[in-house]
Amino acid sequence: MRRLLPVLLALTLTCGTLAAPGHARTAARQVTYDRYSLMLDGERIVLQAAEFHYFRLPSPALWRDVLEKLRAGGFNAVSVYFSWAFHSPRPGAYDFTGVRDVDRLLRLAEETGLYVIARPGPYINAETTGGGLPAWVKTVPGRARSSEPGYREAYREWLDHINPILARHQVTRGGRVILYNAENEYQVNTDAAYMQDLQDRARAAGIDVPITTNDCCDAGSWSSTWATGPGAVQIPGVDDYPQSFACATPGVWGPWGEGLTERLREDVPVFAAEYQAGAIDSGNAGYDRCRELTGPAYMKFFYKNNLIQTGATVLSYYMGYGGTNWGWLAQPNDVYTSYDYGAAVTEARQLTPKYDEFKRQGSFLQAVAPLAETDPLAARPAADNPALTTAARANPDTGTQFVLVRHADRAAATTDDATLDWAAPDGRYRVPVRVQGRDAHVLVAGYDLGGQRLAVSTSEIMTHAAIGGRDVAVLYGTADSPGATVLRYAAEPRVTVLAGRVRSAYAGGDLRLDYTHEGLARVLVTGGGRRPLLLLLGTDEEAAAFWRAGTDAVPVLVRGTKLVRAASVSGDAVRLTADTAAGEVEVFAPPQARRLRAGGEEVAVSRTASGSLLGVTRAPAPVRLPALTGWRRHAENPEARPGFDDSRWTAADRTTTVSPHKPRTLPVLYADDYGFHHGDVWYRGHFTATGQETSVDLNAVTGLRGGYLVWLNGRYLGSAAGGVEADSGDQATPPNPDPGPGHFAVPAGVLRPGTDNVLAVLVENMGHNDDWIADDLRFKQPRGLVAAEVGGAPIAWRIQGAAGTDPVRGGLNNGGLYGERAGWHLPSHPDRAWPAADPAATPLAPGVTWYRTSFRLDLPARQDVPVGLRFGGTPSPDHRVLIFVNGWNLGQYGGDIGPQTEFVLPAGVLRERGANTIALAVTAERPLPGGPGPLELFAYGNVRTG
Ligand code: GAL
Repeated sequence: MRRLLPVLLALTLTCGTLAAPGHARTAARQVTYDRYSLMLDGERIVLQAAEFHYFRLPSPALWRDVLEKLRAGGFNAVSVYFSWAFHSPRPGAYDFTGVRDVDRLLRLAEETGLYVIARPGPYINAETTGGGLPAWVKTVPGRARSSEPGYREAYREWLDHINPILARHQVTRGGRVILYNAENEYQVNTDAAYMQDLQDRARAAGIDVPITTNDCCDAGSWSSTWATGPGAVQIPGVDDYPQSFACATPGVWGPWGEGLTERLREDVPVFAAEYQAGAIDSGNAGYDRCRELTGPAYMKFFYKNNLIQTGATVLSYYMGYGGTNWGWLAQPNDVYTSYDYGAAVTEARQLTPKYDEFKRQGSFLQAVAPLAETDPLAARPAADNPALTTAARANPDTGTQFVLVRHADRAAATTDDATLDWAAPDGRYRVPVRVQGRDAHVLVAGYDLGGQRLAVSTSEIMTHAAIGGRDVAVLYGTADSPGATVLRYAAEPRVTVLAGRVRSAYAGGDLRLDYTHEGLARVLVTGGGRRPLLLLLGTDEEAAAFWRAGTDAVPVLVRGTKLVRAASVSGDAVRLTADTAAGEVEVFAPPQARRLRAGGEEVAVSRTASGSLLGVTRAPAPVRLPALTGWRRHAENPEARPGFDDSRWTAADRTTTVSPHKPRTLPVLYADDYGFHHGDVWYRGHFTATGQETSVDLNAVTGLRGGYLVWLNGRYLGSAAGGVEADSGDQATPPNPDPGPGHFAVPAGVLRPGTDNVLAVLVENMGHNDDWIADDLRFKQPRGLVAAEVGGAPIAWRIQGAAGTDPVRGGLNNGGLYGERAGWHLPSHPDRAWPAADPAATPLAPGVTWYRTSFRLDLPARQDVPVGLRFGGTPSPDHRVLIFVNGWNLGQYGGDIGPQTEFVLPAGVLRERGANTIALAVTAERPLPGGPGPLELFAYGNVRTG
């Protein structure tokens, strides 16, 4: 019964709520499913989702931009992790305002028309700090990701906050949340009671859409082996990353397998819960290489292969837009500041060739309805060249066939031609195909294309629409490859080739068009007993210039512009909400349309022989960004001085910890145990020296890329790298009791025997480990000092981290540097008394030095000019830089941090028309002749925008 309940709920519950005014809420709809697909009120859909993490874009106004770009790129859904850590700085404290306003995000999804796969964890992995678990969860008893008390109260607190927000945005209430994903790749160290409780709590909060989960790695799962017990979900899905994360070797093909999403159960659709659409750059190759690794060739081969081999109809691509690990969002062992991910839309919101490929494939999935219900087809067309192979599926109701053509050897790089002998629903056809290297084609036969009958085509369908009483269809193929399209007519139609070279022949009801894919050919077919058809036959590149916009009732097809976000027709005018630069724009709209507005401007148009409107859009106004001058600087770390007053710091005197890692020396110095969870932490240890002490021996765990600096009685002793893990929990790697050792000789004359001596230590913590194997050992790794000895003297410690939680920027924005505690990163900080200094040219002493400057921007209104900050020169491994823009911590730069030299400054955080402040906190590990730089602002792009 317990298992039946969710199904019954999904089948029967629809709670109609009134739409809030101004929001694009629709009528409540039921979500059901069968082995083929999801259905909305009985209507099948293919869900094509892109993953997007709102928490990696601290500018809600830009959420709309990304969502609109995804929508225009052929996606009809977004998959969203909701990060518990991002919303909860301490137990009981939750923030859903400003950059945390997920209600706003879900409203934007409604306005954009994207369905949402909601993934609230509680554990999300995602290369984010703690895998989404707040750091304070490290200090509660009970194994994380289990039903043990302590953790149980904690995760229920999160679900009690997030579930009601998600519930009110479900499609069953007129919103857009269509699936609810519980947990994440939860397959080892599992606890069925926990997995079940997550779902029970969701149901109790009103979640009535199907509950899913994403499995990894073909392990036993909540889907197959445990399909019927407690914890089982309605629709299990599979995560696939066939290209691995080896961005340095983008030419290697499928090192992690064929990438065929498994069918896990017979009663549910095949769900590609996370299909690789980019990569983590764990090897520091740079994201351009990751984009190459997962570029259009990979997308064509693997995505199309998956589509036709497995018949997956619920597809979610990880990531669609990656974003930024601003503040302390990164899980340090996997990623650095940028989480660009080599995704289709870059971190700076620019569209890439991957976006074009998504648009071609996604538009096809949205346009060709029979694809939502297909079975494998044994009688597939045969190719007369053994280098090529085919696979096929067919819709059992319409008979429409979908045929994959690719190289038999997936590594083949040759170009091969073949003739397909194709027993299609309308007859038997012999048609030419060509496969270039890792290309792959999905061809269609027996399809009612609007008012036409497509018998067969060796061009791929991008989209088609009924516009102004005729069908307009965009078909495409690889440049220079042969194409043949056969359409059925009751009588011979009239064929007018408006552009390009296309041969036509009519016989026995078949109109056959033969051509080579080159440029954009245009063929008008009239008569023959059907409404007119305008066939646009292009290369891949030509097809990518098309945007399908408008509404279902009044579709509009656009060629050109940089991006069409929306289109509408009223009276004799077409209005495009578009991003434009200098170039052609061509609009296929109902015939009464005679005028065009694009990107907020009237565009002069003329009517073409194709019946479209053609015009030219203007270049955006050029932009000059100011030089970064007028830098001032101020050294800090007064904490290193012996006389510094630390009496109000927290005494670090605990002798026990809930962490499974017990310290080698007492007291417990773990920063989290004292409520300091993010960024830098200062320790001051007081001891009475005998004078015989010869060394200071410390140990710190910081996560990869972290480190610590040590002073004794004000004398700098040096620095050491922080450890990554004391005990990974992995049997293959034995525990390491000494993960981040630092041995510092005490210089002569520094000790003051018989009196108070002060050890000052600055530890740079880099964010928290994830908990991928749910064993607590990785996740509950301490941060900060884990052992400290100076001879045998007892040490009385005090600790200081971040001073509270920034009410706007949140708990992940700041650590505990002196300058951060004193607000030196904030625009309002008075720095006039600071001396002028060029960051690159002034020597640095060990410790922390701040640089600040201000500049005004006056970017043209109604233009989108994403701005970045670029560090010239070679990043030094001996300094690290925290970059604050208007108080927001937008990243970290330094030779030990990662390959990144350019940082995205998102509009919203950056004032595009007004004053801005940059503050750099530079920590030097040794005396350096100069600091970071030279620094400059640059633009990633420039378009007029709607
Ligand atoms: C998956 C995981 C995601 C993300 C991805 C790699 O296994 O579910 O959260 O970590 O790997 O980017």
